[in-house]
Amino acid sequence: MEKLQALSLYAKFRKDLNYIEKELECSVDSASPIIRQASLHLLRAGGKRIRPIFVLLASEFGEFSLERVGKVAVALELVHMASLVHDDVIDNSNMRRGHQTVKAKWNNRIAMYTGDYMFAQALVSIADIHSPAVHQLLAKTMLEICEGEMIQIEHQRIVDQTLRDYLRRIKRKTALLLSSSCELGALVADADEKDVQRLSRFGYYAGMSFQITDDILDFTSTDEKLGKPAGSDLLNGHLTLPALYLKEDPTFQVYMKQAFNGQLTEQTRHEMLTYVRSSGAIKKAEAMSDLYLEKARRELAALPDEKAKTAFMQIADFIGRRNY
Ligand code: IPE
Ligand code: IPE
Ligand code: MG
Ligand code: MG
Repeated sequence: MEKLQALSLYAKFRKDLNYIEKELECSVDSASPIIRQASLHLLRAGGKRIRPIFVLLASEFGEFSLERVGKVAVALELVHMASLVHDDVIDNSNMRRGHQTVKAKWNNRIAMYTGDYMFAQALVSIADIHSPAVHQLLAKTMLEICEGEMIQIEHQRIVDQTLRDYLRRIKRKTALLLSSSCELGALVADADEKDVQRLSRFGYYAGMSFQITDDILDFTSTDEKLGKPAGSDLLNGHLTLPALYLKEDPTFQVYMKQAFNGQLTEQTRHEMLTYVRSSGAIKKAEAMSDLYLEKARRELAALPDEKAKTAFMQIADFIGRRNY
């Protein structure tokens, strides 16, 4: 298994990432011991830190200052973590990043406030950046994530939904945050306007591919690698891309009904996974993910030749074949 951390680009950014890690720890150092412990629990459980990396790399297309860029990177990871803590409440998930979720180790009420605290700390982190455009974009992104998660709730267990519905949902809940990570990194470094827009589009396309891959992995990966039971999305009533491709398939329909009614036994869960893995739906979903990745690479190609461009290319390759 190739971890993103093992990519050479992490080594190049090791110092900057360590700085961001320390800043993240400081920002969850609440006077409330429970908030502090719950936040640190999630923070120290790991995670790929893709959003901070996007911020750092995008800022290399302008005037890089770790102190300024670091604040934005911290804010983006905090917004991401807050949405994860809340997402696990909604999905009733017990495992995250290979450890217990905040809602499982503590409870739902604590998870709500821990998430809110992280959202607020994200705002604190960028308060020193005197640029209305930065604040407007972060606020807008947070609104869109809420709307994306809300659409996801509305679409739960609804079989009558289209590819467009799915794409609109993952755009809001995932792709826009990755797009904004790039855009904000570039903005705060005063990069050229054209490059800011290119980076923003790169983040969006890479983000679409990233979420499609996440949805594929939910079927194809193992409980151990996922840090939660494979097939969780279907069990939670989420029709992701592979499931959408299979929703007219009579065999899959039986599994889907059982999953939605909470009647999928451990044995049938494994049968369902085997069935989906050997169906054409995974290949079709991979093709869709690749399509977005290709669009992402095309945006990169038009950027000026910076070290960061090669690193972004490596990330695009990683997203295309990640298995965790
Ligand atoms: C998980 O994001 C939620 C999605 C948007 C797919 P990541 O896969 O980036 O989660 P961590 O931060 O590495 O745990
Ligand atoms: C949603 O994505 C996470 C947010 C963007 C809030 P998923 O629901 O697919 O994330 P996992 O699979 O629980 O990590
Ligand atoms: Mg989830
Ligand atoms: Mg998922």
